[in-house]
Amino acid sequence: MGGFNMKICALAACLLLAGHAAGYSMEDLCAQWSGSGYVGDPSDCHGWGYCQGQKLVSWNKCNNGLVFNAQTSTCGFANSTICTTSAEATCKAATSPMYVAVLNDCNKYGYCFGNGSIGYGNCTTGGVYAANNNTCVWGPSCPQDTICRFMKNDIFVGDPNTCGSYLQCNSGYGTPGQCPTKSPYFNPANGYCQPTNPCTGDSSNSGSSPSGSIYSVGQEVAGACAGGTAIGDAAYFYVADNKTCYGYFYCTSTTAAGTWNSCVLGTQFYPTNQTCVSPAAFDCTVANGRCGNVNSPFMAVSGTTCNEYQICASGTIASCPASNPYYDEVNNICTSTKPAYAICA
Ligand SMILES: *[C@@H]1O[C@H](CO)[C@@H](O)[C@H](O)[C@H]1NC(C)=O
Ligand SMILES: *[C@@H]1O[C@H](CO)[C@@H](O)[C@H](O)[C@H]1NC(C)=O
Ligand SMILES: *[C@@H]1O[C@H](CO)[C@@H](O)[C@H](O)[C@H]1NC(C)=O
Ligand SMILES: *[C@@H]1O[C@H](CO)[C@@H](O)[C@H](O)[C@H]1NC(C)=O
Ligand SMILES: *[C@@H]1O[C@H](CO)[C@@H](O)[C@H](O)[C@H]1NC(C)=O
Ligand SMILES: *[C@@H]1O[C@H](CO)[C@@H](O)[C@H](O)[C@H]1NC(C)=O
Repeated sequence: MGGFNMKICALAACLLLAGHAAGYSMEDLCAQWSGSGYVGDPSDCHGWGYCQGQKLVSWNKCNNGLVFNAQTSTCGFANSTICTTSAEATCKAATSPMYVAVLNDCNKYGYCFGNGSIGYGNCTTGGVYAANNNTCVWGPSCPQDTICRFMKNDIFVGDPNTCGSYLQCNSGYGTPGQCPTKSPYFNPANGYCQPTNPCTGDSSNSGSSPSGSIYSVGQEVAGACAGGTAIGDAAYFYVADNKTCYGYFYCTSTTAAGTWNSCVLGTQFYPTNQTCVSPAAFDCTVANGRCGNVNSPFMAVSGTTCNEYQICASGTIASCPASNPYYDEVNNICTSTKPAYAICA
C-alpha cells in the first residue's frame, strides 16, 4: 500500500499546483458568496458565471467580443471596459488614455496611450499600485489581488485565504472586515457572523481532517479485523472502519488487532478493492461521511444519484436548480447531464 499511497500523493500535489497556477476559478468565487448573481471569469475577461447557493450554476461569454464588467454585471465595449485578465488587451482596445493594473506584478502599473499601445511605470521599492485611486500605496499586499475583482459591488463574501473572515466588495476591491467578538466567524453559506467556526480542521480546509476523527493513526483496535478477508493470496488485508469514509484498519489475520490509518487527503477507502480512491469512484454510505478527508466545499450525497449535495462547512443538504439538476463533485458544478461517476449511479 506504501507505493500506492505515494502515487496518489504525487497526483494530489500536481492537482494542487495546477489549482494555484490558475488562480481563482468561478467555482471558488461562488463558494464564498451566499447571494445569487453574476461573477466574472478570472481566466477570461469576456466570460461570466452565475452563482446560486454557493454554486456556479451557469456560465457563458459576452456576445460580439464585449468585455464583462463584474462590478456592474454588464457586458461593455472593449474600448471602455477594463479587461480584468490582461492589461495589454485593455490598452489594445482603449481609445482614450487610462491607467491599468498589471496583474502579475503589482509593483508596476500600466498606461494605455489610447492608440493601442501600453507603457509601464514602477512604484518605488515597497510600493504597490492601487488601481482604485490610481496611486502607488505602501505594500506588501496587492490591492487588486482579491476575489472582489470579479464580483459585484456592495456584497459581503468569505475571504478564501482566511476561512471565517469576510471581505466587503466595492469597485473591485475587498476591504477585510471583522465579525463581532461574540460571533467571530463569517459563514459564506448565509453571509452571517456566527459563534462557531464553519471551517473544521485548519483554516484553509473546509472538509474535516483525519486528526479530528475518532481513531488516531497507528491506534490498535481489537476485533476490527474479524469481518475481513485478504485479496488473492495476500498475507494481510484492509478493512473499512465504517465510522469514516477515509479510515481503514491494517490486518494480518481475522483475530489480530487492526491498526488504523487514513487515506491521503482527497481520497477515501474503497472496501471492495481495499484501496484509497477518488471519493466519486464509489458510494460511501457512512452517514455524513463523504465530506471527510476532502478539500472540497461540497460533496454529492450518497444514494441520491447526485441530485443532492452537502455543504461541507455547515453539513446542510442542498439541491441543484431544475435546469442543471446533477451535482458534479469533481468539477464542482451543477450540470444537466448525470456525471458518469459511480457515486451518481
Ligand atoms: C467603442 O466601440 C464601439 C463599438 O465598436 C463604438 O460604437 C464606440 O463608438 C466606441 N467608443 C469610443 C469612445 O471609441
Ligand atoms: C502611441 O503613443 C505613444 C506616445 O505618444 C507612442 O510612443 C507610441 O509609439 C504610439 N504607438 C502607436 C502604435 O502608434
Ligand atoms: C521598472 O523597473 C524595471 C526593473 O526594475 C526596469 O527594467 C524598468 O526599466 C523600470 N521602468 C520604468 C518605467 O522605470
Ligand atoms: C486609495 O486606496 C487605498 C487602498 O485601497 C486606500 O487606503 C486609500 O484610502 C485610498 N485613497 C483615496 C483618496 O481614495
Ligand atoms: C465494516 O463493515 C464491513 C461490511 O459490513 C465489515 O465486513 C467490516 O468488518 C466492518 N469493519 C469493522 C472495523 O467492523
Ligand atoms: C477495483 O478493481 C477492479 C479490478 O481490478 C477495477 O476494474 C476497478 O476499476 C477498481 N475500482 C476502483 C474504484 O478503483
